[in-house]
Amino acid sequence: MKQLDPQAQMSAIKVFVFDAYGTLLDVHSAVARSLDDLGDAAPAISEIWRTKQLEYSWLRSLMGEHADFWQITADALTFALRCHDMEDQARHDRLMNLYQKLLAYNDALETLEFLKARQHTTLVLSNGSQAMLGEALGFAGLDRFLDSALSIDKVGIYKPAPRVYQLVLDYMSRRHKTCRAEEVLFVSANAWDVAGASSFGFRVAWINRFNRPPEILPGGPDLIIKSLSELAPLG
Ligand code: LAC
Repeated sequence: MKQLDPQAQMSAIKVFVFDAYGTLLDVHSAVARSLDDLGDAAPAISEIWRTKQLEYSWLRSLMGEHADFWQITADALTFALRCHDMEDQARHDRLMNLYQKLLAYNDALETLEFLKARQHTTLVLSNGSQAMLGEALGFAGLDRFLDSALSIDKVGIYKPAPRVYQLVLDYMSRRHKTCRAEEVLFVSANAWDVAGASSFGFRVAWINRFNRPPEILPGGPDLIIKSLSELAPLG
């Protein structure tokens, strides 16, 4: 892992970019509010839902069969419920509705507020569709502290395709802010996303929310943190 001296090396950071699902928003908070209905199967259903959602995003990207993240999320939920013989339209609708109202992690709001108060450019870059991001970030109250939420909708392929990370540089250039890849700090809880962003050339902070070992992939984090609040000294 490359080591960053926060003071010296982060002074060059021009934009803070956050992944959404798993990083700012707790993807397991939908199922966590359906325990009465799902019972003992709840944790497994939540895990399968998330894992399949990601697998479908990568598989569809490889197949050239794009579908937006709402569709992929719905398909992954169908699969997860089917694994437990719990397929039911009303249950599916209820869980999808809860997915639009995911809870933010405690450290998300305070960190974004802190960075925004210091006039930093703050973005989300997510696989989520524009509509999903608008609703979820609004519900969580995070949108107030973001300059923009960039969705992969524009490029029709999912992270970690390099074209997706390029959206950040395109955004900055449209705002007449010259910005090189190494002047972006990308923050994600998803280690595969960390690898993708690092490989693209961003500086990357990995918030290791799930206590996982690093992925064995090209690229890696410049910084490993346990809480988003550890970004404050960089801001
Ligand atoms: C995101 C998911 C993949 O891009 O975490 O927000």
